[in-house]
This record gives sequence, C-alpha cells and structure tokens, in this order.
Amino acid sequence: MKRLLYISTARSPLRPSELDALLTRSRKANAAADVTGLLVVGGRRFLQVLEGPEQAVTATYERITRDPRHFALVKLHDKEVATRSFPSWAMGFEQGGVAVASASLEEQVNAIVAPIADPTLRAYFTGFAKTHTSA
Ligand SMILES: Cc1cc2nc3c(=O)[nH]c(=O)nc-3n(C[C@H](O)[C@H](O)[C@H](O)COP(=O)(O)O)c2cc1C
Repeated sequence: MKRLLYISTARSPLRPSELDALLTRSRKANAAADVTGLLVVGGRRFLQVLEGPEQAVTATYERITRDPRHFALVKLHDKEVATRSFPSWAMGFEQGGVAVASASLEEQVNAIVAPIADPTLRAYFTGFAKTHTSA
C-alpha cells in the first residue's frame, strides 16, 4: 500500500461545475483502481492525498501530473504504508483557504488547510508539510 501527497497550482481557478466534473470522474476511476484519498482546493492550490496499491497510485499520479489544468506539482510525501488514512473516500473533498504565493511551502499548506473544521484532519496535512520543509 502506498500513500502519496502533493501540492500543485491550477492554471486558472476551477469553476464549481468543473470541480464537480473532476471529482465525479476521479471518484469513478479511483473506485475502479482501489484508490482512495482527499482533495483540498484553496484558491489556485490543490493539495491531494492518494492511497492504494502501489501500481494504482503510481499510474493515477502519472495521469494527474500530465493534466494541463495544473502545474508545479511538488510531492510532499511518497511512502509505503500499512493502512489507509481515508479508506472510505474514493476522493473526499474539502474547501481550502487561499495561500500567499510567496509564503514557504509549510505556510502555504497551513493556509490552505486552515478552514478545515476537523483539527485531526488539519494536523494530518500540516504534519506532512513540516516533514517536507525540514527534510
Ligand atoms: C487536482 C487534480 C486532481 C485529480 N485527481 C484525480 C484522481 O484522484 N483520480 C483520477 O483518476 N483523476 C484525477 N484527476 C484527473 C486526471 O488528471 C485525468 O484528467 C483523468 O484521470 C482522466 O485522464 P484521461 O483523460 O487520461 O483518461 C485529477 C486532476 C486534477 C487537476
């Protein structure tokens, strides 16, 4: 089982209908590939966790990196894990906050996840950003 977390930037902000279409398509493909995860969208930033069988996560991420709707993907985490953090979400969604582009990666992640109500979920993301910055 593999977990991969990345942050990226949208070429232009997605309209709600475009985001809906992206989530619907992603959930269908992820369910078929046994991939689960969570997408946080804040301003022009995407923060996404993908979990599942190694091959499935790698193939999904490769497809996502080629998607012209975003660019500047930065992997925050890419590891073998024993269990999933989001077992029941083919692709969960959280509305995120807007980060200042000039801020550090850790500060940007903090700003994006700030509106998430669940403190455990918020800490999940800020923890990864910390690990990445100090690595
Ligand atoms: C921010 C973002 C997140 C995405 N997440 C997923 C995802 O979790 N699963 C997925 O299959 N496609 C996801 N996509 C869509 C893929 O990039 C791609 O458009 C889709 O899989 C269809 O690929 P295809 O046209 O090569 O079949 C995402 C795209 C973006 C921009």
